[in-house]
Amino acid sequence: MSVDSVFRTRSLGVAAEGLPDQYADGKAAKVWEMYIGDTQSRTQEYRSWVLSLLKERGARRVLDVACGTGVDSIMLVEEGFDVMSVDASDKMLKYALKSRWERRKEAAFDRWVIEEANWLTLAEDVQKPGDGFDAVICLGNSFAHLPDFKGDQSDQKLALQNIASMVRPGGILIIDHRNYDYILETGRAPQGKNIYYKSDLTQDISTSVLWVNSKPHMITLDYTIQVPNAARQNLPEVSKFRLSYYPHRLENFTGILNEAFGGKVEHYVYGDFQAYVPGQTKPPCYFIHVCKKTA
Ligand SMILES: C[S@@+](CC[C@H](N)C(=O)[O-])C[C@H]1O[C@@H](n2cnc3c(N)ncnc32)[C@H](O)[C@@H]1O
Repeated sequence: MSVDSVFRTRSLGVAAEGLPDQYADGKAAKVWEMYIGDTQSRTQEYRSWVLSLLKERGARRVLDVACGTGVDSIMLVEEGFDVMSVDASDKMLKYALKSRWERRKEAAFDRWVIEEANWLTLAEDVQKPGDGFDAVICLGNSFAHLPDFKGDQSDQKLALQNIASMVRPGGILIIDHRNYDYILETGRAPQGKNIYYKSDLTQDISTSVLWVNSKPHMITLDYTIQVPNAARQNLPEVSKFRLSYYPHRLENFTGILNEAFGGKVEHYVYGDFQAYVPGQTKPPCYFIHVCKKTA
């Protein structure tokens, strides 16, 4: 079965072909913005983990390579980091651009740079400052949006190399993915509150796994959320959106990530923001990799 035949819809109704911008119809972007809740409301645990990591490492210039609607970037701009935010989806960037416009009178927001860029062409799309950024972030289960069309992970490897090339020697990359090992073992994504977003909306996630030649090839999550004041926002009371992901297994992802740095890396793995211990009793929902580029 070709992957295109499975990438049939994004928001249950809009066709998409080729390398899809899963947010292209604009509806998923709108519902995503609601799903993540107020951009001021990253969970405290997430906020303090990322901020203290960046501050500890003395980071100043940060590149957010999957800024989406801008949730992480806004937090970093507010905290005084020098932020460049990029994303491949103009429908998602629209929200980031709107926030920057609305707060343009604040000097930090006036300096905030937002551009369209694709991980597969990042080196051409992004002008890196000197020998690179102090920190690059790719969060919110974003990297798993990249499909493995060729079946050999070459696109993933290229994208990771491009992303790693943006980090200056001594700088860090913070990149995450859901615990796909758990999803593949149990057939379910963890339900309930997301560790990143403080949204109060009732939500449910249903999971489908596509296997190709006995290998897990794609995981589709159908998100259902109850929308308060739906009519005012021109949305149905029960809104759905569908996102498809490439299921990165921890061990394999760790390997291709190290390769992307040409082995010149110190690599730390966290599970839901705690140092991860393989085989630990409580399986984390998310794995977060911190890679320090060694000289
Ligand atoms: C789930 S959103 C997360 C956005 C944000 N980090 C957050 O947590 O809300 C994933 C983002 O990755 C972006 N993305 C997917 N594939 C991409 C690619 N090849 N290059 C650049 N951005 C991409 C999507 O457009 C989307 O905005």
